[in-house]
Amino acid sequence: MGGVSARLEDLPLRADLRGQKPYGAPQAPLPVALNVNENTHPVPQDVADDILDSIARALRDVNRYPDREFTALREGFADYLGHGLTRDQIWAANGSNEVLQHILQAFAGPGRTAFGFAPTYSMYPLLTRGTGARWISGTRPDDFAISAMDAASQVADAQPDVVFLCSPNNPTGTPMRLDVIEAVYEATQGIVIVDEAYFEFAPRDERSALTLLPGRERLVVSRTMSKAFAFAGARVGYLAADPALIDALRLVRLPYHLSALTQAAASAALRHAPTMLGMVDEIVGQRDRISATVEALGFTAHETWTNFVLFGGVDDPAATWDALYDQGVLIRDVGIPHHLRVTAGTEDETTAFLDALASVGSAA
Ligand SMILES: Cc1ncc(COP(=O)(O)O)c(C=O)c1O
Repeated sequence: MGGVSARLEDLPLRADLRGQKPYGAPQAPLPVALNVNENTHPVPQDVADDILDSIARALRDVNRYPDREFTALREGFADYLGHGLTRDQIWAANGSNEVLQHILQAFAGPGRTAFGFAPTYSMYPLLTRGTGARWISGTRPDDFAISAMDAASQVADAQPDVVFLCSPNNPTGTPMRLDVIEAVYEATQGIVIVDEAYFEFAPRDERSALTLLPGRERLVVSRTMSKAFAFAGARVGYLAADPALIDALRLVRLPYHLSALTQAAASAALRHAPTMLGMVDEIVGQRDRISATVEALGFTAHETWTNFVLFGGVDDPAATWDALYDQGVLIRDVGIPHHLRVTAGTEDETTAFLDALASVGSAA
């Protein structure tokens, strides 16, 4: 096609989307990519083979629409999560981003608001505005760990329709105690989403917000297969909530939103949950090694229960990011002054990052 293409400003775009920036973590083909909190360990070969067999079987019926209720997959997630959950309490979609979008489509939208404690996951405001709702930013103290009293009072003041509690928080790694979640739930009549995308990297004996679900019909706990499960490319996220809340999500999802191939792949991967999660301890080990080493280099590492580390004391984050990039290491400048974020990789990737950082320096 020839001709001059139009500019965005020339199109009849919704007024509330004008001037907005799309999600834009750089996707650069560098040898060491530690910028979007993926699990950098590939799926083990025997599991990959079983997943492929399942996809091949699903392909035989791909002339038909898939099970719109993804029943087998919901049963798989209920089993995996435990806590006595049943499939009528489970929802899933193409990544937890879509799961969160479904919640916002049902409970936010024009004239409504969603709230989160900044800095937090950068997609929350984007997803909120995408539904025509307004985003309200709360605050965190300098160590990013918000208290129950502070959290409840901010939420009570803002009176949002939807509250996002990222637990543990991206991009800071900060754990969130269950008393904060309980206090926020009491402080609002809105939906409270606890985003546990990184829960599997928390200490083993920690309680999930899933334990708070009984009796709290406005509480949602979302999870993803993208992180601990090493399944980011398959795009599968899920949540647990009251069955009535799940019914609300049926009102906004596209029919057949989870393809037969996705359902087959995710169900097969869940059958191998212990193997898929086998790398979590190794990743936690590399994460703790990053924290200890950046501290030894003169930076400050924030407490983290995730697969990444936010470190401060960086004189010029943009310059350090560039210098690492030039050495083939991609990390993330999340816009927090004097901070950078790095995902824990394999042992070799982590070593490459730490060596590159040591050579670059830039500790204040
Ligand atoms: C806190 C948090 N929630 C949700 C997601 C979305 O994950 P996905 O859509 O891959 O499930 C991410 C991804 O980085 C995240 O950090």
